[in-house]
Amino acid sequence: LLAAGAHAQAFPASGKTITLIVPFAAGGPTDKVARDLAEALRKPLNGATIVVDNAAGAGSTIGTAKAFRAAPDGYTLLVTHIGMATTPTLYRNPGYKYDEFEYLGLINEVPMVVVGKPALAANNWQELNTWIGQNKGKVNLANAGLGSASHLCGLMLQNALKTEMTTVPYKGTAPAMTDLIGGQVDIMCDQTTNTTSQVEGKKIKAYAMSTAKRVTTPAIYKDLPTLDETGMKGFNVSIWHGLYAPKGTPAAVVKTLNDALKVALKDPEFIKKEEGLGAVVVNDARVNPADHKKFVASEVTKWGAVIKAAGQYAD
Ligand code: MLT
Repeated sequence: LLAAGAHAQAFPASGKTITLIVPFAAGGPTDKVARDLAEALRKPLNGATIVVDNAAGAGSTIGTAKAFRAAPDGYTLLVTHIGMATTPTLYRNPGYKYDEFEYLGLINEVPMVVVGKPALAANNWQELNTWIGQNKGKVNLANAGLGSASHLCGLMLQNALKTEMTTVPYKGTAPAMTDLIGGQVDIMCDQTTNTTSQVEGKKIKAYAMSTAKRVTTPAIYKDLPTLDETGMKGFNVSIWHGLYAPKGTPAAVVKTLNDALKVALKDPEFIKKEEGLGAVVVNDARVNPADHKKFVASEVTKWGAVIKAAGQYAD
């Protein structure tokens, strides 16, 4: 008689590599979360080798579709963010169905901040707002492609300011940040995981936060108003990240991965890294497949309505 469970391959098998697909360029916010998470997952996954595959482009749909098609064996996973909920509204056939993945749990929530190139004369939100109004259609707004977090925030900004900007898409906000620091683009709405070191290093200017409440950690954001405070009533965007596996990944593997994720999210090192960049790691209750799937479905509805309402001012 086979020893109980002997038929089920141990996961992860020793020597096998786990790949985390990140649908944006290396060095950006999504990549940062994935690499820090990979570090924290190693121990609970018996020291498995975990690598990141940056499959960027088309606002996260290229990488998400690559994960959708991957073998459902637990060795190819996806780390992506709110793009899982914006792309169903923006792409007719992105190459995947958002509700046909195995949901492994949410990871964190990350605030966004409106940042500008160093040469901008504006030293606060009011001055930036005035400058934008005086340069209708001429302001270059960078983002990470249709459906990215920076695209969504930029769309809502244009809609709230009743203005249209020239949007410049990149394969992620890492390359976009290079051009912002260089002055090739004027402003961007980006996640604090990517902006914090640049703001601290005075490489870019920070103006206002996308969240409903002010961000006090790290301290560099504490005196910045929220966009809601500046008059954009109800402006409230925070970028959640989640972990996914291809549909059909065995339930036992899904459970092992979800258990490992719960351990990783309690790793003090991981939490310290996240908090230092303004991100908030989610609590256990949200790190279960059923709630993660329900949450994303509600976000598809929520952001679909916002995108449709805001669409008239920008692409
Ligand atoms: C976004 O704007 O969606 C992200 O910043 C993209 C990225 O991780 O580079």
